[in-house]
Amino acid sequence: MTSVLVLNGPNLNLLGTRQPEVYGNDTLADVEALCLASGARHGLAVRCLQSNSEGALIDAVHGARGRDRGIVLNAGAYTHTSIALMDAIASVELPVIEVHLSNIHAREPFRHRSYIAPVALGQICGFGILGYALALDALAAHLNAPTR
Ligand code: DQA
Repeated sequence: MTSVLVLNGPNLNLLGTRQPEVYGNDTLADVEALCLASGARHGLAVRCLQSNSEGALIDAVHGARGRDRGIVLNAGAYTHTSIALMDAIASVELPVIEVHLSNIHAREPFRHRSYIAPVALGQICGFGILGYALALDALAAHLNAPTR
């Protein structure tokens, strides 16, 4: 079965208790269950990983090469800071769909900049955990019929 990686970055392990007014009440376990179910609908085996460490996220991107056909990535605050993560994504040549629970463009100016966006297939933000399901729909569609 085709495998894809859902990769969550720093502080997303605290979902459900972390600023619920911004990020909602669902937990990371809820997100991962949604991803497994969404992937299964598309015949995709979903691997879920979360780390608070930039290096571990980079290692996970490297590890996806040759194993997974694409990545759904919520890099948390590293989105706005990590040139290293951007370089890792550019290096593995896998389709990456960037996800954020919140609408980063409607928040503080420092969240408007994404280092992931230039190397991503696309970005989904502002739809809460539904964004992960939308990203898997988009990734499945891309894997079936790549547009670029
Ligand atoms: C986030 C948005 C980021 O700005 C923030 O640092 C996060 C979560 C989101 O899912 O909305 O940790 O990626």
